Amino acid sequence: MLNIHRSKAMPRIDVATATETLRRGGLVAVPTETVYGLAADCENELAVRQIFAAKGRPASHPLIIHVDGLALASRYLQRPSPRLALLAKAFWPGPLTVVCEASAQASHAVTGGQATVAIRVPAHELTLSVIGQLGRGIAAPSANRFGAVSPTSAAHVEASLGFDIALIDGGQCQVGLESTIVDLTHAQPRLLRPGAVTSAQLEHVLNVAIGAVPMESTVRAPGMLASHYAPRAGLELVELKDLVVRAHTRQGQQPRLVVLAPDGFDFAESVEVIRIPSAAEGYAQALYRSLRQADALDASLILAPLPTRAGIGEAIADRLSKAAAPKGNTSDG
Ligand code: TXA
Ligand code: MG
Repeated sequence: MLNIHRSKAMPRIDVATATETLRRGGLVAVPTETVYGLAADCENELAVRQIFAAKGRPASHPLIIHVDGLALASRYLQRPSPRLALLAKAFWPGPLTVVCEASAQASHAVTGGQATVAIRVPAHELTLSVIGQLGRGIAAPSANRFGAVSPTSAAHVEASLGFDIALIDGGQCQVGLESTIVDLTHAQPRLLRPGAVTSAQLEHVLNVAIGAVPMESTVRAPGMLASHYAPRAGLELVELKDLVVRAHTRQGQQPRLVVLAPDGFDFAESVEVIRIPSAAEGYAQALYRSLRQADALDASLILAPLPTRAGIGEAIADRLSKAAAPKGNTSDG
């Protein structure tokens, strides 16, 4: 084999080529409304195992199966779930992942050997077409190296995983944060990860209270803090009303301070500012891109305002606090 082939970048590909690549057991990075995913045919165990290698992620971490509707989802479920049917009707396609009991079609490589499986229908036309043409679910974690910031554009995927990855460019992700995860395998549904679909919305549709079980409580070792979604720089969170004063204090103490701030917050000329939208939806969409920009500026510390807790603000606060946790103890990827 000539060495020249190894260094050749994979092109950005179309739906037909992506489907063919998956059918042959290859990996494809695909757009979704939340973040880009790194996908394999979920029924091809060998292909699924390649995902863990490409991400540098421990194989014990289960993956989400992406399907194009409830019919295909049922293939991976032990039995029909009335609650899932309600949620699917209200939120699919969309940023909601549901954990149910798994069928034998949900392979151990996907479930991490657990009896449950996580499933969602992504709201992106190109990826829905791929799934439709493949006729099977695709297993996909976020398309980044384990523990790094999730990609919200095709360029981010290449920056994270290199140019050797086959990639469908579906533009910038609309939501910008990973999906909400709700576990339906207990009498009371539990929120495992906050996202654009809120607890209040789930409660409204299911007509039952949702319990909160942060995912770290089940996967991390006791006493360890989880650092996920983390930029290289340190990250400090501050109430919006204290942002300007804190920035000026920190600037004298840091080799390179970068501040995330909405328009209308003014700083000394010398403070480096990345502007973020003031509405929560805009902040969510811009968050990971902004953290990458700050890294590119070689920030030693990023100062970021806490969002209000309403709506997607809960998910922003969740990701920010994980990104601010001490590094070296990643429990997600
Ligand atoms: O928005 C998203 O969900 C994106 C896009 C690509 O769809 N995907 C994503 O995948 O964030 P990943 O692998 O980075 O995060 C999936 C999370 C992991 O924390 C994993 O532990 C959890 O889902 N998960 C998967 N299967 C599970 C299961 N059976 N029970 C509980 N948690 C599960
Ligand atoms: Mg991830």
